[in-house]
Amino acid sequence: MGIETASALVVMGVSGSGKSTIAERLAARLGWRYVDGDLFHPPASVAKMSAGHPLTDDDRWPWLRAIAAEIDRLSAAGTPAVVACSALKRAYRDILVHGRNDVRIVFLDGTKDLIAGRLAARRGHFMPPGLLDSQFRTLESPQPDERPITVSIDASVEGIVNDIVRQLEATAP
Ligand SMILES: Nc1ncnc2c1ncn2[C@@H]1O[C@H](COP(=O)(O)OP(=O)(O)OP(=O)(O)O)[C@@H](O)[C@H]1O
Ligand SMILES: [Mg+2]
Repeated sequence: MGIETASALVVMGVSGSGKSTIAERLAARLGWRYVDGDLFHPPASVAKMSAGHPLTDDDRWPWLRAIAAEIDRLSAAGTPAVVACSALKRAYRDILVHGRNDVRIVFLDGTKDLIAGRLAARRGHFMPPGLLDSQFRTLESPQPDERPITVSIDASVEGIVNDIVRQLEATAP
C-alpha cells in the first residue's frame, strides 16, 4: 500500500511555499525523477510571462496537458516522478491527475506571513508586489475527494519530506 503504488506526486502550493525545494529533495529521497512543471509552458506563454503579462486559464490548459502527458510517459517507462507545479485550482489538478489513482497531490500548506518571509529572503527571483495576495486569492485548497497529502511547511525541509513520506506510507493507493 501507499508509496510503491504511486507513479507520480504533484507537489503544489502558492509561490514560495517550497515546491521546487521540497519536490527536489523528495525525489532524491525516493530515487524518483524530479520534474519542474514550469518547463512545460509553450514558447508563446514563456514570451507572454517574460513581457510581464499574466497567463489566462486558456494559456494554462495546454501547459497542464503537457505535464499530464509527461506523467503518463514517465509512468509507462517505469520512472516514477515528483512534479513541482503550483496547481492552485481544482480544474488544474484534475488535468494533472486525469483520473489516475497513482497520481497523488501533495499540498504545501502555510500562512501568508511565513511564505512572505521566505520569499523576501529568496535570492535570484523577482517577486512582484501583490503576487502572494493574488496567489492566495486564487488558491483552491485540495478537497478530501482529491485524497491530498497535506503537510505544514512550518518545519525544516527534512521534516517536511519526512512528513510526506510517512503520510504516503500510511495511506491506501
Ligand atoms: N522548509 C523550509 N524552511 C526554510 N526555507 C525554505 C523551506 N522551504 C523552502 N524554503 C525557501 O523558501 C524559498 C521559496 O522556496 P521555493 O523556491 O522552493 O518555492 P516555490 O514554491 O518553488 O516558489 P515558486 O512558485 O516561485 O517557484 C526558497 O528560498 C527556499 O530556499
Ligand atoms: Mg519553484
